[in-house]
Amino acid sequence: MRLRRNRRLRTNPAIRSLVRETSIAPTDFIVPLFVTEGKGIKQEISSMPNYYRYSLDLLQKEVKELWAMGLKSVLIFVKVSDHLKDNKGTEALRAEGLMQRAIKTIKDVCPDMLVMTDVALDPYSTYGHDGIVAHGSIQNDATNSVLAKMALSHAQAGADVIAPSDMMDGRIFDIRSLLEQEGYHNTAIMSYSAKYASAFYGPFRDALQSAPVDLKNIPKDKQTYQMDPANRQEAVKQTLMDIEQGADIVMVKPGLSYLDIVREVTDAVDVPVAVYQVSGEYAMLKAAAEKGWLDYNAVMMEQLLSIKRAGANMIASYFAKDVVRLL
Ligand code: PBG
Repeated sequence: MRLRRNRRLRTNPAIRSLVRETSIAPTDFIVPLFVTEGKGIKQEISSMPNYYRYSLDLLQKEVKELWAMGLKSVLIFVKVSDHLKDNKGTEALRAEGLMQRAIKTIKDVCPDMLVMTDVALDPYSTYGHDGIVAHGSIQNDATNSVLAKMALSHAQAGADVIAPSDMMDGRIFDIRSLLEQEGYHNTAIMSYSAKYASAFYGPFRDALQSAPVDLKNIPKDKQTYQMDPANRQEAVKQTLMDIEQGADIVMVKPGLSYLDIVREVTDAVDVPVAVYQVSGEYAMLKAAAEKGWLDYNAVMMEQLLSIKRAGANMIASYFAKDVVRLL
């Protein structure tokens, strides 16, 4: 006689749905959007099949479509023309820069859409680094003062949430202080707090043409500011520090390879935790599905469920539209 049989609760779809612990809804997602200059442009990113850069006119259409699907948060990245790049983020601060115009464009066509903006210098940097490069290193504090001004400029353009992705020390404090001082009390900060120096960002750097360049004294990777993939404790330390400095939402990035960190951070904090399922994760599944080696929809759903099960309150994902169509 078996008193306990776990298969009883797996008998049919109805009972399985009744005992299911994790579910996916459109409100779980933040949709990353790539914006480029020009008109009538919808350019596919070569390493991210079926993902595009939009010019502002076509961005309007895309945003309306997302809203109609129940996707209510976007995270904006801009592709900056090479001639506007320098080593101090001049273009990043311009009130009429592409990011600032993108924020206004989205708020014009869809005022209730939650607009989150990437704050980091890499798309604006001649060197492809998230900070100012000088004396053979990435300058921490000088970078922070530019990041704070950049965040303020996004808030002034209408951004709801500022998302610093640079990993400089103390940037959350500097950004929060300037926003408070200027009266932007309700502009939230979503900090990329446990952001690893990951090789999974490759396709994203294609999308923005923002990969680090060869420099004499500086490594071509981002290991002096992004975290070592070997570390776990450091993720919790870094996240708690960002919360002390005023982060409203914290993030673990990338997703799938770091689900242990997601669980650990979720257990340690009392603020919402976002997970960024990054470009390389998207590219891997697309490639395997193209070859007929994996079932795209099933694997996509399983991966997103795993991220939520690990503790994520929200997921930035290039799969957002595809998954919502499935629900
Ligand atoms: C910029 C930034 C990156 C990503 C988000 N913001 C790239 C990087 O840090 O090099 C990666 C996102 C992705 O791969 O999808 N600081």
